[in-house]
Amino acid sequence: MKFYPVLEPVIGQKEKEYINDCINSGWISSNGKYVKQFEEAFAKWNGVKYADAVCNGTVSLHLILLALGIKPGDEVIVPDCTYVATANSVLYVGAKPIFIDCKEDTLNIDPLKIEEKITRNTRAIIVVHLFGNPCDMGTIMGIARKHKLLVIEDAAEAHGALFRNKMVGTFGIANSYSFFGNKIMTTGEGGAVVTNSKKVHRIISLLKNQGQNPKHRKYYHDCLAYNYRLTNLQAAVGIGQLEQIDRFLETKRNINSWYREFLSPLVEKGIINFQEATPNSAPSWWVTTILINTVAVNKLAVQLRAASIDTRPCFYPMHKQPHLKQTGNFPKSDRVAKSGMIVPSSSSLAKNDVEVISKVLTELLTKKNK
Ligand SMILES: Cc1ncc(COP(=O)(O)O)c(C=O)c1O
Repeated sequence: MKFYPVLEPVIGQKEKEYINDCINSGWISSNGKYVKQFEEAFAKWNGVKYADAVCNGTVSLHLILLALGIKPGDEVIVPDCTYVATANSVLYVGAKPIFIDCKEDTLNIDPLKIEEKITRNTRAIIVVHLFGNPCDMGTIMGIARKHKLLVIEDAAEAHGALFRNKMVGTFGIANSYSFFGNKIMTTGEGGAVVTNSKKVHRIISLLKNQGQNPKHRKYYHDCLAYNYRLTNLQAAVGIGQLEQIDRFLETKRNINSWYREFLSPLVEKGIINFQEATPNSAPSWWVTTILINTVAVNKLAVQLRAASIDTRPCFYPMHKQPHLKQTGNFPKSDRVAKSGMIVPSSSSLAKNDVEVISKVLTELLTKKNK
């Protein structure tokens, strides 16, 4: 039987052409025309003034927090249900992440639980558009305005998702993307900061490049900084990927609606639930996620794997990670960790593939229920 990975990159002819051009030019590190071209194209595609390409989505979060001056003693609101990089970035700058439970249906940070955790030390909120589902940016921006907090969007999983017809990654002061191999578009490893703030952009371009300021002579460094650059080779791939992103997004959305169609009997019987779209949003559905109500996810995953279908559990809650431990009640994100399953979601899937996967899933879940 055909093997269905959870996600696989879709690399086209253009990427190969640009990579070859890059190799032939000799500019294979971070100098060369593709980095700038990619930054300009990505900023334009997002509808923002600036994009800074960096070597992954984790460092883009680190750079944003540095550029915004988040420091030891500060608190930053972070969803409990996210990938660990979101919370780690807060620790990198010596601040404290404060976790908020997710909503049962959208799996995103619950805006109604934010205010009770705001203190004198709270400086910022990092929202995560989980699995491509936009957060309720209307309510979140309102809370941020009321308490004078900065908003940062972790859009690592949400390229092209819209909230009230506006692209995610354009609400916060500075926002982060990942281009890891399994993301909606990839550069192998890679990331970007997008912002409309000239000041943030200026600081980030300095910090990602060893503090080298083009205004000064070579080897004069303005400050303690990092080598967080994307390579020209990676940017070449990024340009090819960006040229195809509309097609990738259309397929991701189709895959999600095909799963909903084929698995609707399981939903009607209460055996599974889908992650639900935030009202007034158009998710990009980087991955399709279901919550299994009747059997243990790990056992089901083994059975699916035996049928050549790969899956992933959902994130383990931040408040339970050994280095991030926090007391409090997080029943919703605990539930996602226990019953969430990510099903094959590559942009290479056709409707027939989703039908095959759904049939196997249905057989396994209804057999168990007899
Ligand atoms: C929500 C979220 N934030 C941050 C990251 C970090 O991105 P990267 O793996 O490119 O460092 C990821 C990547 O998987 C992610 O899913």
